[in-house]
Amino acid sequence: MTQLPTEFPDFGLTPEQRREAVRGHYYEWPGMDGSSGEIWCYSDRFSYRPRETVTLHVSSTAPQFSIAIIRDGATETQVFEKTGLSARWQDTPDQCSVEGCGWEASFEFRIGDDWPSGAYRITLSADGRDGMPIHSHHLFIVAPLPGRKPGRLLQVAATGTWLAYNTWGGSNHYQGITGPKRDQYATMVSTQRPWCRGFVVLPEDAPRVPLEVAVPPKTVPRYPHMEWAFATGHSKKYASSGWASYDSHFFRFAERAGYAVDLASQTELHFSPEILDGYDCVVFVGHDEYWTWEMRDAVDTYVTRGGHAARFAGNFMWQTRLEDQGRRQVCYKYKARAEDPAYRGGDVRRATNSWEAPEIGRPGSATFGLNATQGVYAGWGGCAPRGVRGFPVYRPEHWAFAGTGIYYGDLLGADSHVYGYEVDGLDFEIRGGLPYPTAQSGAPDGLQVLAVGMASQVEESADIPIEDQFLTDEDGRFTAETLFGEASDANLDKVKRGNGMIVNFPRGKGEVFHAGSCEWVAGLLRQDAMVERVTKNVLDRYLGKS
Ligand SMILES: [Fe+2]
Repeated sequence: MTQLPTEFPDFGLTPEQRREAVRGHYYEWPGMDGSSGEIWCYSDRFSYRPRETVTLHVSSTAPQFSIAIIRDGATETQVFEKTGLSARWQDTPDQCSVEGCGWEASFEFRIGDDWPSGAYRITLSADGRDGMPIHSHHLFIVAPLPGRKPGRLLQVAATGTWLAYNTWGGSNHYQGITGPKRDQYATMVSTQRPWCRGFVVLPEDAPRVPLEVAVPPKTVPRYPHMEWAFATGHSKKYASSGWASYDSHFFRFAERAGYAVDLASQTELHFSPEILDGYDCVVFVGHDEYWTWEMRDAVDTYVTRGGHAARFAGNFMWQTRLEDQGRRQVCYKYKARAEDPAYRGGDVRRATNSWEAPEIGRPGSATFGLNATQGVYAGWGGCAPRGVRGFPVYRPEHWAFAGTGIYYGDLLGADSHVYGYEVDGLDFEIRGGLPYPTAQSGAPDGLQVLAVGMASQVEESADIPIEDQFLTDEDGRFTAETLFGEASDANLDKVKRGNGMIVNFPRGKGEVFHAGSCEWVAGLLRQDAMVERVTKNVLDRYLGKS
């Protein structure tokens, strides 16, 4: 195991800039690059099927631009390029993150019959005002045509989470410029805007959220990913979500390992659930936090009928609703009970609150076996910064660990740091040295706990002043109120100690495997042999290969 440094990386920021990098609200907006000029692009949808038409909406300070499109898989394959396209600067409404940019269409093209399903990166290039080249990136998904797909995997990209974290235009489900003081997060976000910088493509040295630092005692937490974002002009949320930080690592691994893998967005999961029916195995990865009721119905029905769901992802937290044919995502989150119309004469089960809110009656565990409110932070801030970096394994004899050489008490994926930065868990107890879900946990019948690590809902340290805390106890207080009706100290104490698990359970004729950590993909990115082996064991079994 390589020795971790004991100091945080330095990206050349002053202490004030470092504070701004973490506490500030900075985002992409039209005009931000001033005299250099800009080119921005979004497409009318997240995903298309072969032979469908893609409409690009472009706003550029240059009158002409070119595009190149590559398929971003195990290898990069160029499928299209065109130069001499016309563009103009288009007006953008102040609340574009919420309402959409409303730009006129600039260019259309058809998805070729021979474009395999996957993620396609568009690079747009033009001349800046100062003669230097300007670029931007966009991404769209080619989803598969319907039909039986024996031996193929379907990966569903966490596009609801990408949308929730997209900083472009100033507002997302975390921070924003909505409300009278322009300081509120947006409860509605539009797909009709570009992706923020770092969601589509990233340099290899971009830090991930979990700390690669052996933190000395009493150290005030720092956030290398946000410092790097601030220093290099990337989105504040580049490491929290997006194709580049998460979904791409599974997709490339799977193709490299010889799997035939198709890609869909959560839009298909919501509007065309039959897309799952052709597959023996459907995969969800990365930071996968925002789902609709309909998406869960799709997975539950698929598994009950005999499908296999493999989730290598964390933070199954919020119910969303889609509006305007999927172009708008609604999630009131912390304000749901006060503001979501679902609480005022609507169907309260569809409230855009935590899945574990009792009025919704559909804890996340009912679909994937684990709950976000029983999990959450590990490996960053003041939340287990020196905690386990891999999953502590309790049932090494389980089929998922065959051939890994792992033993009881070993850590799975510690070298590649797969455990963090948000994890999903269950209330559990240890009997005879083995973990079991408690009767109140909400675990589905027959669920086996294979691995458990600790996590924290609350950043707490007697050594760190409150003004130096970023995560604080806000999320813990919210969970306490959501589950128990009041954000009291007593209720906070009930929820603040979380965990992250690997679990496996049958449902109907099918089965679910769930490694509940956002960072599982880090093991695939860093080619951790043990993590790759477990991943293959799950995929091979679910594809009927073993
Ligand atoms: Fe999250």
